[in-house]
Amino acid sequence: MAKTLISIKNLKASIEGKKILKGINLEIKEGEVHAIMGPNGSGKSTLASVLAGREIYEVTNGSVTFQGKDMLSMSPEERSREGMFLAFQYPVEIPGVSITNFMKAAVEQHREHKGLEQLTPSEFLKMMQEKKDLVEIEAKLANRAVNTGFSGGEKKKNEVFQMAMLEPKFAVLDETDSGLDIDALRIVANGVNKLKNKENAFLVITHYQRLLDYIVPDVVHVLYNGKIVKTGGKELALELEEKGYDWIKKEND
Ligand SMILES: Nc1ncnc2c1ncn2[C@@H]1O[C@H](COP(=O)(O)OP(=O)(O)OP(=O)(O)O)[C@@H](O)[C@H]1O
Ligand SMILES: [Mg+2]
Repeated sequence: MAKTLISIKNLKASIEGKKILKGINLEIKEGEVHAIMGPNGSGKSTLASVLAGREIYEVTNGSVTFQGKDMLSMSPEERSREGMFLAFQYPVEIPGVSITNFMKAAVEQHREHKGLEQLTPSEFLKMMQEKKDLVEIEAKLANRAVNTGFSGGEKKKNEVFQMAMLEPKFAVLDETDSGLDIDALRIVANGVNKLKNKENAFLVITHYQRLLDYIVPDVVHVLYNGKIVKTGGKELALELEEKGYDWIKKEND
């Protein structure tokens, strides 16, 4: 039996007194890919933000246990060091800091936390090269300042590259940007497919059934009005694509 990696129980969260998450229950095991779909404004990005530990959201109830530890009491940095990857925990743009230097700092922090020795410069560059090849990122991207002047697709590539470098146990990917083209979707999908193994897990938030053609999820959830109202296999995503969300809304209003 695969071990439970993350367990979310009756999670409720608000922003500025407005209730957004209204009791989320979700359990993800090692080796699994879960997808969350749902209409605009249902709380998908809020869930991702709460998991990332963004302080603007107030958790009013429930628990999140990650590898047996209380995750809600951890800072975003601690969550990251414990093996959680949330793309937007990183600053959107860091002018003047190259991706190489940024990643070196992040990788060393993680290694220190695990009690590993620092990498030599050549070991680090070798690791960068391996991961670049794995996620098929052009070398020139890594020499640019973090996210400065990046297009949406380039930001996405960089995110997937960061994920590859940090080798997380659990990654949350929020694909809210409807501007992503099919290539960007494919980059995300390839990244997940190449990085997934028996010991890690992914939570992919998406509007696109298309993305789920590339990343085949083990479990699909529908979030509506702050709650998971339906859970199924990959066929649920196809059903949603075909029928839209009206039937979900009718069942739950
Ligand atoms: N900072 C904020 N201030 C006020 N309301 C917010 C804030 N962030 C989110 N909300 C509200 O919370 C609700 C859920 O938003 P959220 O971004 O989680 O939805 P979503 O499911 O990710 O939607 P989408 O599919 O459009 O990405 C929305 O009604 C939104 O307006
Ligand atoms: Mg969103």
